[in-house]
Amino acid sequence: MPPVPDPVQSSPDPVRLARIQRRFSEFATEYAALPLYSTVCRRVAGDDETASLLLAARPGQARPVLWLAALHHLVLSRPDLPAARWYPSVIGAATVPPGDPWPDVRRTVLDHADELTRLIATHGTQTNEVNRAVYVAVGLAAAAADSGAAPLAVVELGASAGLLLGVDHYAVELSSPTGPVLLGDGASPVRCSGEDRTGVGTLLMASGAALPAVRGRVGVDLDPVDLAAVDEVRWLESCLWPEVPGRVERFRAAVDLLRGDPPTVLRGDMVDRLTEAVDLARADAGDGAHVVVLSSWAMTYLPAPRRRDLAAVLDGLAGTVSHLSWLTAEPPGCVPGLDGPEVPVEGGTVLGLQRWRHGHALPAAVLGTCHPHGAWIDVSLPPSAP
Ligand SMILES: C[S@@+](CC[C@H](N)C(=O)[O-])C[C@H]1O[C@@H](n2cnc3c(N)ncnc32)[C@H](O)[C@@H]1O
Repeated sequence: MPPVPDPVQSSPDPVRLARIQRRFSEFATEYAALPLYSTVCRRVAGDDETASLLLAARPGQARPVLWLAALHHLVLSRPDLPAARWYPSVIGAATVPPGDPWPDVRRTVLDHADELTRLIATHGTQTNEVNRAVYVAVGLAAAAADSGAAPLAVVELGASAGLLLGVDHYAVELSSPTGPVLLGDGASPVRCSGEDRTGVGTLLMASGAALPAVRGRVGVDLDPVDLAAVDEVRWLESCLWPEVPGRVERFRAAVDLLRGDPPTVLRGDMVDRLTEAVDLARADAGDGAHVVVLSSWAMTYLPAPRRRDLAAVLDGLAGTVSHLSWLTAEPPGCVPGLDGPEVPVEGGTVLGLQRWRHGHALPAAVLGTCHPHGAWIDVSLPPSAP
């Protein structure tokens, strides 16, 4: 464990502190719609004592979201603390009082500065966004449109806790002018929803292309979160923003649902362990399974040469897997072989599909763009396989 700097004893670096406070100020402006987080960040931007806790962060991690996650962790663990009553995730959205949270938040932060500093010094922010199941479900159904009833073996690269690997166990509700469409398990306690701008859900239903059964599911992550480890799950939950309606509740429901039979998530680099993950998923799903390799906001962390290495491994796998698809939900320009926008797009997420059928590569398809958390999708079906 790295040494934990004492926030009081060590003299703050004024230049770094000023930079940190500028980031809080920018966060407050960018997320002005979030009453708690924008208020807190605006106040921390002008308060050296509370802001200086972030000086303890590991290199590259000194972002307001880490400070906010540490405090969220504290109030989730200690709902008796004064700041906790301002958190919808602790007391419920309907019970949050009106008024200024800052006096309670400041008091809690300063009373627990050591604990917060330790969290900040030893953690980075981590994500597993369950509502991304909206674009994952649509992408899987689109990928499988030409493979009949073949079961799926899904391998997720950068899977975090593996919550997206449970996509078929969730109810994914698409709303569109062409009518509502449901993918997955309609009776599920995990409810995901998004606006379907193009009516692609209706088209999928009309062509009989629902979400196929997932029989194999394996993830790979540099730092997987173990659903059985209370502390690890608590940190992942702490990284969620408490004020986004339904987000924390959906996360908790997905953890509860998958905890009894969690997907395997291999620890390691996604390129190095891809082939092994595919083998494991096929061992569960059967050799006739359609293998879909998925990445959602994960390839963006790879340097360009490693992205090309990943594409080469997939190309090699196409020689042994008769139905292989590569579904990507990444920022523009991250995925080799996918012609698409290289510039920022609305929602920041490009849904792409590359397919190999019986060893032959089909033309790569940009399906469209999505909100980064699946709040809306704007996608079309790929050209049908010949
Ligand atoms: C932003 S999170 C996305 C998690 C999940 N895919 C989702 O959409 O909710 C990115 C994940 O990729 C993982 N990751 C980053 N680089 C990786 C690599 N080279 N190999 C495996 N996992 C990696 C991180 O540990 C992290 O869990």
